[in-house]
Amino acid sequence: MTTGCVPGWLSAPIEVTCELTAACNLACKYCYAEAGIAQEPELTTAEWLALLEQVASLGVFTVFLGGGEPLLHPGFFEIASRAQKLRLTAAVSTNGTLITDEVARQLAEARVAPVQVSLDGANPEVHGFLSGRESAFRQCIRGLEFAARHNLPVQLAVTLTTVNLNQIEPMVNLARHFGISSVFFSAVLGPPAQDPMLMLSREQEQMACLTVEALQTRNQEVLLVFTGTSYSSLSDPEQSLNAVDQVFSPCPAGRVRLVVSPSGNVFPCEFLRSPSVVAGNVRAMSLREIWDGSEIFRSFRRTFSGRSCANCSLLATR
Ligand SMILES: C[S@@+](CC[C@H](N)C(=O)[O-])C[C@H]1O[C@@H](n2cnc3c(N)ncnc32)[C@H](O)[C@@H]1O
Ligand code: SF4
Repeated sequence: MTTGCVPGWLSAPIEVTCELTAACNLACKYCYAEAGIAQEPELTTAEWLALLEQVASLGVFTVFLGGGEPLLHPGFFEIASRAQKLRLTAAVSTNGTLITDEVARQLAEARVAPVQVSLDGANPEVHGFLSGRESAFRQCIRGLEFAARHNLPVQLAVTLTTVNLNQIEPMVNLARHFGISSVFFSAVLGPPAQDPMLMLSREQEQMACLTVEALQTRNQEVLLVFTGTSYSSLSDPEQSLNAVDQVFSPCPAGRVRLVVSPSGNVFPCEFLRSPSVVAGNVRAMSLREIWDGSEIFRSFRRTFSGRSCANCSLLATR
């Protein structure tokens, strides 16, 4: 393993995703995280707290608390509060079903922002079908109500599939109803093992993009962001890469992002889970050693995989 910052690349990730647990109370048909039950030995709360110290001293801006369902982690609020004390922005990605009045109060107290709530549809049938649990829609809506009551900075995250493609407008209406400031639309990505019937064709992705743009023109209350399968591209896909894009996009893996799995394995990207892209484990190495020295991270910086994540040779989605 080579050490020392790589000239021309950032000396630390901008964002570290902490997948607190693989446990999840839903079973989304498209989930890349293969979430369900905790995969022992998961990192303990004490280990996550120690890791946050490293994250802060590296100069990272944001920690994204995810999973699995991060609100199932018994140390969630201790971890979020520590991040806040360390002057890190702590964001959460949640399915929303576990946001009670008390949880919303604590999220506000820990100043978690944004609270990104995943929405799979605008009615119980579609949301329930995709999330694998009939009651999920009702519980998610109840969570959004509590979040609104506590003025949480909620963002909706919609993963578009062939099943919810016709629900874009009603989902935006739901966002307006709850006074939500932004909705992010991405398109399902994943290994071929996942249900190919959920994947959007290129034409469907383009149609979805046009629908979102048209809605944004008519409605300025909610910011609508369409990323499709280009998760972090900053500029027009038709234009050549500018200097900023060279660092920040089209692929954030290893350039600006680092992902820590529930068992402490470090990946450059949350969509790639194979053992061949594990850059190290935080129980054995420091984040500094992994960020600077891992050959996996260095190889991601050397190659551009294409403008869209769907073109990533390591994913092969279409
Ligand atoms: C893996 S989940 C973990 C956090 C939390 N349980 C939730 O659902 O928000 C994080 C986000 O990834 C999205 N996601 C999961 N599988 C995906 C896939 N195959 N393609 C694109 N997005 C996906 C989910 O919809 C969710 O917004
Ligand atoms: S709620 Fe999140 S972690 Fe759980 S199955 Fe759905 S996408 Fe995966």
